Amino acid sequence: MQLALATWHEVENHLRATDGVIVPIGSTEQHGPNGLIGTDHLCAEVVAKGVGEAIGCAVAPTLAYGMSQHHLGFAGSATLRPSTLMLVVRDVVRSFAVHGFRHSFFINGHGGNVATVTAAFDELHAAHSLGEHVTPVRCRMVFWSGGTRAKSIADELYGDVNGQHATAAEVSLTQYCQPDHVKYAQMSPKVAVKSGPFFEATDYRARYFDGRIGSDPSLSSPEYGRRLYDAAVQDMAEAYQTFLTV
Ligand code: NI
Repeated sequence: MQLALATWHEVENHLRATDGVIVPIGSTEQHGPNGLIGTDHLCAEVVAKGVGEAIGCAVAPTLAYGMSQHHLGFAGSATLRPSTLMLVVRDVVRSFAVHGFRHSFFINGHGGNVATVTAAFDELHAAHSLGEHVTPVRCRMVFWSGGTRAKSIADELYGDVNGQHATAAEVSLTQYCQPDHVKYAQMSPKVAVKSGPFFEATDYRARYFDGRIGSDPSLSSPEYGRRLYDAAVQDMAEAYQTFLTV
């Protein structure tokens, strides 16, 4: 059940059977020469909606902006400050908890969100521990691509050249779910460099001139995206159902 397409009566009914909700989260940032700006949130969203269809759970509207400050050297990228993102996560989780969604399961598409969202979860858990009068909540975040099925397909298809940013797997998934927006671009070099750490946007742009890190997304295809989608939906459905039991 997509919350955005339900009435409040339907949500209230749904809450009689479960206290869990899935929140897709991603980013709005460059994804290299053939990757869409929305890659991270499009991937998280399509997998979350797939889980919703498969097992009938509630899926919240997507958090489409993330912690992407290091991508601001590339047009079309936007970021929330870590402090802003923490407040967004807190308020969304607390709002849902007011009505009985006490398990919030975030399906994530963006590595840059991890530290910030995990800290926001720690704040939410700490509030109850510290005796604040708030509904206790349980929060967890996983990568859409992090389950065993999706990982083994990405390994089989791409091995080491899946990369760390603008990966062949995530570009494939967007090509599958957004077939009218498949882009073609020359990759030079074919496999992007991995040249050490980065701190802020100018630094990132200087090290990773076309936006990719370690990937060869010219290997992407809608067909591979379909395989990754099927695997990720199964992985995430299983992970979500396990989470509800904790
Ligand atoms: Ni990404």
